[in-house]
Amino acid sequence: MGLLKLAVLASGRGSNFEALVRAGKDGRLNAQFALLIVSKPDTGALEIASAHGIPAICLRRGDFENRGAFVAAMQSALVASGAETLALAGYMKKLPPEVISAYAGRIFNIHPGLLPAFGGQGMFGRHVHQAVLDAGCKVSGVTVHLVDERYDHGPIVAQRCVPVLPDDDAQTLAARVLKEEHCLFAEVLGAVAQGRLCVDSGQAWLSSD
Ligand code: GRF
Repeated sequence: MGLLKLAVLASGRGSNFEALVRAGKDGRLNAQFALLIVSKPDTGALEIASAHGIPAICLRRGDFENRGAFVAAMQSALVASGAETLALAGYMKKLPPEVISAYAGRIFNIHPGLLPAFGGQGMFGRHVHQAVLDAGCKVSGVTVHLVDERYDHGPIVAQRCVPVLPDDDAQTLAARVLKEEHCLFAEVLGAVAQGRLCVDSGQAWLSSD
């Protein structure tokens, strides 16, 4: 594959997006950041895009007359950008099925927990970490997976664990997990750029060469 033509979708502060951009700059990730799509205007991700000269647009369903117009706008922005791979970096909306099928097998999401536990609708941010603590888990972690039409579902590509410590609260655990997120997402996408993603019979993995 070589160069990954990447569109990143985000809804929040954008620290994962920034980590990807940084990995691109220091050679860990061979990517061209073709486009950032945000789902609301007040996101840190937009500032990061502007600081790095990355094209960015805000696409909100409410700004369009109907769903079809919204989906068409997203599709044409992606096509015009030349993006071939999508990275959901804290994107809080469900991607339209039309986009999922157009980029099937090339959409990656990062989740701040060890899927298939602690995922699904409503399981985001602090809710994930609090649920992990409430369950008494001794490890948590990060999952990068391929996206299908269900929330936090689709073949798991890579995971990394962090310990849950006795005096953790959701915030301290989130910070420990986030640090790993910033490494793992770039590692996975870097491996994808190198053509190391293997998918077979609903399973995904990264080959070592
Ligand atoms: C991350 O924890 C990510 O795993 C989840 O949303 C959060 C986004 O954080 N999907 P940031 O905007 O990248 O800082």
